[in-house]
Amino acid sequence: MSNVTVLDHPLIQHKLTIMRNKETSIAGFRRLLREIAHLMCYEVTRDLELEMVPIETPMTEMESPTIKGKKLVFASILRAGNGLLDGMLDLVPAARVAHIGLYRDHETLEPVEYYFKAPADLANRLIIVVDPMLATGNSATAAIEKLKERGANNIRFLCLLAAPEGIKHFAEAQPDVPVYTASIDTHLNEKGYIIPGLGDAGDRMYGTK
Ligand code: URA
Repeated sequence: MSNVTVLDHPLIQHKLTIMRNKETSIAGFRRLLREIAHLMCYEVTRDLELEMVPIETPMTEMESPTIKGKKLVFASILRAGNGLLDGMLDLVPAARVAHIGLYRDHETLEPVEYYFKAPADLANRLIIVVDPMLATGNSATAAIEKLKERGANNIRFLCLLAAPEGIKHFAEAQPDVPVYTASIDTHLNEKGYIIPGLGDAGDRMYGTK
């Protein structure tokens, strides 16, 4: 699993445990997802290239580092991706945003696209695709294929939980896309849910069940 980085920071792991607990409230779940997104965003962007720019402090002139290159793009797989997106945008407010609407057909577990809106110029930007759950890997793969069709050539995938089945499928389909996750759980059940998991991330965020 060389394309996967498990983000094992104690704060991420602690918050994830509270999120997994079925007694955690909707408000608590949403707040924790946003907080974890801050910590994960920090990790997933830690190797971004910097360039020196001239500025003037109140005291003197200096050269100081800023992030090099075009603005980042955060691509949220709707709807649960928006929970991570909110936290990512707290840290990188100037990022561009893509929304990719996919739902899982409950019979086939295949993704069905119902919405796609992305910035026009995706080439040569770092694109971080966010979805809390990498389950079968079908939605993530479909979303990334669509982004690549539109010129994306530098993509990372960020999720909270991943199933081994999803990681395997994803690595075969998108070998050039590194995955960042807080946990690799044990397996998927017959309905495509991650076990032990945290349930349906969208329902837990939005109280729709
Ligand atoms: N999507 C979810 O929200 N939960 C899972 O366990 C799998 C996919």
